[in-house]
Amino acid sequence: MCALNTVPFVLRNFEKKQNDYSGVAQVATAVWPEEPTTASELALDDKHRKPDRIHGRVVAELNGQIIAFGVYGKLETSPRSREFFFNALVHPDHQCQGIGKAIYSYIIGALSQYKPSVLTTDTRENQTDAVRFLKMRGFEIVQRRPVLRLNVKSFDSARISSGKVHDKRQKITVSTLSELMLDVPDWKHRCWDLDWEIVQDIPSPDAPARSTFESYALHFDNSDFTPQSWFIALQGDEWVGMSIIDTNPSTPDVFYTSVTGVRRGFRRRGIAMALKLHGIEHVRALGGQFIETDNDENSPMLNLNLTLGFERGPAILEFRKTFSAADP
Ligand SMILES: CC(C)(COP(=O)(O)OP(=O)(O)OC[C@H]1O[C@@H](n2cnc3c(N)ncnc32)[C@H](O)[C@@H]1OP(=O)(O)O)[C@@H](O)C(=O)NCCC(=O)NCCS
Repeated sequence: MCALNTVPFVLRNFEKKQNDYSGVAQVATAVWPEEPTTASELALDDKHRKPDRIHGRVVAELNGQIIAFGVYGKLETSPRSREFFFNALVHPDHQCQGIGKAIYSYIIGALSQYKPSVLTTDTRENQTDAVRFLKMRGFEIVQRRPVLRLNVKSFDSARISSGKVHDKRQKITVSTLSELMLDVPDWKHRCWDLDWEIVQDIPSPDAPARSTFESYALHFDNSDFTPQSWFIALQGDEWVGMSIIDTNPSTPDVFYTSVTGVRRGFRRRGIAMALKLHGIEHVRALGGQFIETDNDENSPMLNLNLTLGFERGPAILEFRKTFSAADP
């Protein structure tokens, strides 16, 4: 529980300048050391955001030093109209001093002109003050996703019995997308189709909406698109599963699995397990130490990852607050 001891902080709008990017990145990294943020990543995100998107940041300063910030914007992917997100991050040295509350009020004020119907945010379950803060303001948990981490250097593939990995009689092969791109002219459409079948079954508080081919294909133009770390399972010419390993330049030792999925008619044949084993070998070959991911607490994937030996960390909690017509 906070014993409020306020300090003379000042709230002001974020400015797209090096000093503010660095201050915000430092606070974010102090709050989430497991996911470091850099000033250049933030600046790049801002550069790539369409100018007509509703998006804002506010910073709290103490003696000219950024000690907290808030970020908010419209959730463009939401199936609900007027759904917004926000995050308030206060440096651990300055928590419990009324700063988060002031940032939240500022954001509610800034959003009021858009008449939000829903506000979402997230935190991790070990941030108990943040969980209390959100619950006190009427937010409810809509999804819990344990964060999982595997040390690939100590991973022993012998722990997975061969019965759990697809066997040769099924004639399943695994290729990288970089190999397939050379021979399969419609590879972009194949990725898009496979992704859609998978995404529909990823446990989520909302039914997914299919992205247009054009917006999905933007992935392939990103500088961080690495087709050599997209693993595709095939039966003959048919693409039946995929698993993607992502990198984060701020954490060169840590790799991430973003999506793993198998077409409905091919599940429970050890295909996902085989794809994950390819990913682990790939990260090991690159000299990485860890693979991280997060899965809904009721998902089959969580089971699969625990079987592989991933260790469970604090869950990410997705929160949502629905406003009545009279709010905010
Ligand atoms: C999760 C998913 C990828 C599993 O693919 P799969 O090829 O069927 O998985 P495998 O056959 O390799 O299963 C390996 C092990 O994982 C676990 N597992 C897989 N599916 C499971 C299920 N439905 N329920 C419980 N455990 C399951 C089991 O331990 C299984 O071993 P077993 O069959 O010997 O019991 C597949 O269900 C899927 O595509 N789901 C939708 C996408 C998704 O949610 N992806 C995760 C988020 S990105």
